[in-house]
Amino acid sequence: MSDTNTLTIDETLQPNVQGLETYLQHVQQRRSIRKLTNGPVSDEVIRTIMEAGRWSPSSGNSQPARLVVVKERNTDLWNFIEQTLRTKLQGDQLQRALGRLEGYRAGVFTIVFYVDTNVTNNTPAGMSPELWKNFEAQAMGIIQTNVWNAIAAAGLATSNQHINYQMEEELREFLGVPATWQSYSIFPVGYAAETPQPGNRLNHEDVIFYEHGPVA
Ligand SMILES: Cc1cc2nc3c(=O)[nH]c(=O)nc-3n(C[C@H](O)[C@H](O)[C@H](O)COP(=O)(O)O)c2cc1C
Repeated sequence: MSDTNTLTIDETLQPNVQGLETYLQHVQQRRSIRKLTNGPVSDEVIRTIMEAGRWSPSSGNSQPARLVVVKERNTDLWNFIEQTLRTKLQGDQLQRALGRLEGYRAGVFTIVFYVDTNVTNNTPAGMSPELWKNFEAQAMGIIQTNVWNAIAAAGLATSNQHINYQMEEELREFLGVPATWQSYSIFPVGYAAETPQPGNRLNHEDVIFYEHGPVA
């Protein structure tokens, strides 16, 4: 990449390279950690992590996400999820699911991501409902990413689970959320009790294109 524009460049302006590198470290520290352990995490730390979600961007600032944090009832929540799974799954499938639950239940708190359909069904004038739904999904992805990165920055760990789709109604009742909210995902959060395999990504030049795409 080269600076080929003809505008005058103000040399006193400089990117915050240190801030950038710290941010990238947090992004790279964010991994899927599925085996957690308990430890002290203050309510203030949790609240600060959740602020990273509240300050996430959304289309037209529509702010469709609603997040439920469970700490006091964390063990109860995972016991409830286990009991509900036992009524839905059988055999090997149940055993695999139960095996994974242990790693989540051992954590400190859990975040359940919801979207408020009162917001996302209210398509703005002039926009197609399909595009508005697409923007909803993008906003929900961004808020989950911001919260996940904040968890990593705090030295904690989580993973992105979707057991919620097997128990939408039951979970709604357990958490006490309105019928107009639809669940997206569950983040069980705690301290890492496993070291993930080294991260695996496509090469930079296979994913990132400067100035023009791969078509000559
Ligand atoms: C939209 C989405 C859905 C995912 N669903 C699950 C899931 O249901 N269970 C799970 O253990 N991990 C899930 N993951 C985690 C991915 O498998 C993981 O992010 C990916 O393999 C890269 O590994 P890393 O997170 O350790 O960097 C999901 C990730 C995304 C972005």
